[in-house]
Amino acid sequence: MKTIIEPFRIKMVEPINLTTREQREQLIEAARYNPFLLRAEDVIIDLLTDSGTSAMSAEAWAAMMRGDESYAGARSWYRFRDTVKEIFGFEQVIPTHQGRAAEHILFGVMVQAGSVIPNNTHFDTTRANIEFFGGKAVDLPCIEADDLDSDYPFKGNMNIGALKKLIATEGPARIPLIMITVTNNSGGGQPVSMENIREISRIAKDAGIPFYMDACRFAENAHFIKRREAGFENTPTIDIAKEMFSHADGCTMSAKKDAFANIGGFLCTNDAELAHRERNALILSEGFPTYGGLAGRDLEAVAVGLREVLDEDYLDYRLLSTRYVVQHLRDMAIPVVAPAGGHAVYLDARRFLPHIPPLQYPGQALAVELFIEAGIRGVEIGTVMFGSDPHTGEEHPARLDLLRLAIPRRVYTQSHMDYVLEAIQQVWQRRDDIRGMRIVEAPKFLRHFTASFDWV
Ligand code: F0G
Repeated sequence: MKTIIEPFRIKMVEPINLTTREQREQLIEAARYNPFLLRAEDVIIDLLTDSGTSAMSAEAWAAMMRGDESYAGARSWYRFRDTVKEIFGFEQVIPTHQGRAAEHILFGVMVQAGSVIPNNTHFDTTRANIEFFGGKAVDLPCIEADDLDSDYPFKGNMNIGALKKLIATEGPARIPLIMITVTNNSGGGQPVSMENIREISRIAKDAGIPFYMDACRFAENAHFIKRREAGFENTPTIDIAKEMFSHADGCTMSAKKDAFANIGGFLCTNDAELAHRERNALILSEGFPTYGGLAGRDLEAVAVGLREVLDEDYLDYRLLSTRYVVQHLRDMAIPVVAPAGGHAVYLDARRFLPHIPPLQYPGQALAVELFIEAGIRGVEIGTVMFGSDPHTGEEHPARLDLLRLAIPRRVYTQSHMDYVLEAIQQVWQRRDDIRGMRIVEAPKFLRHFTASFDWV
């Protein structure tokens, strides 16, 4: 069959509140033109994030009812730990309430003032946690990532030459770990190849530096390897995932992404002494080492989700449904980051609205217009998010101005995506009339969450 279907049936539904254009104009004005400040029930299609917003399965809900809520040594903990160990392969598993908590504990024990941590591209919480402990977060994306239009299959790769140079100039002693984010969220949801992972691993071993993965979307990354990298066509995706982790010394994970869970995360390592220190930090902020910040029922949901996400029919559907949106946008000549990533579609707002300069926030203007047009909520990834120095308050254009439309897992159907496509096309047709925006008020740190805006 040529028609790709959602490989699941829907048993429980949540109604969507359909608003009128007039209502949406008032709602977004009341939210001071910041989609983060909207009420979720006023959004028709919510593409703000794929994190914690996925639909769980009947199996996961059933497992939640079996949750063992004992404080220490609960049955649910052992189910969780054994599943993580089997798929991820690391010896030590430390549960946390979400990804950034794992990052905080990891960097708290590994990073010192003056440390340097390379990554393909740090996610904002990763960067913030490194900087919090006095380290410097360095992004080393591959050169191919600069061309937003090319179909290079692994734009999430790290620049190997730049990594070698960084180790040579800084010296391995200043680099407590090397990280790679799979898939590269801040870099367009693009995957990292196995070849790149193997190479980083070799370089890290030679330099005596631990190698960690930010594993949030590991299953999507593994399936991209199966579909795009020579030599993996016939390898089961679960085995590809296992090989990815076999090259690393540890990982951080947000189970809110590729485990379908609404909350959860973990930290892994093969270093028992390090794990001992991490558990001590865990007890201070998250909880006892057999539950982290989680209820027993959450541990159960994650254990089920980690197995389900590796279902290849699901992963085919997942990658194809994102590609469906990107392909239709390209057919309409609407500027979008190519090729399609795993979890999100990234509109290139700078080319969508070339008459709006970066310091008038084309990504923010596009986010607001898409909400007014059809009640769709996305997030600006550009000059609002990255364009101000938190210490001096000085502004500069970010490297890119994008609008990210993240797709929650198993939540929206193809007709929802057709609606999104129609809305983008309508905004595209009236793009010349769209004005830039200005910031009315904003905090110094992470200003995108709470800033208020108005039209120029
Ligand atoms: N690393 C990556 C690559 C992420 O995308 C995220 C979260 C985190 C770490 C932190 O995990 O939210 O569980 O604490 N990304 C979400 C997003 C918020 O919308 O992209 P967390």
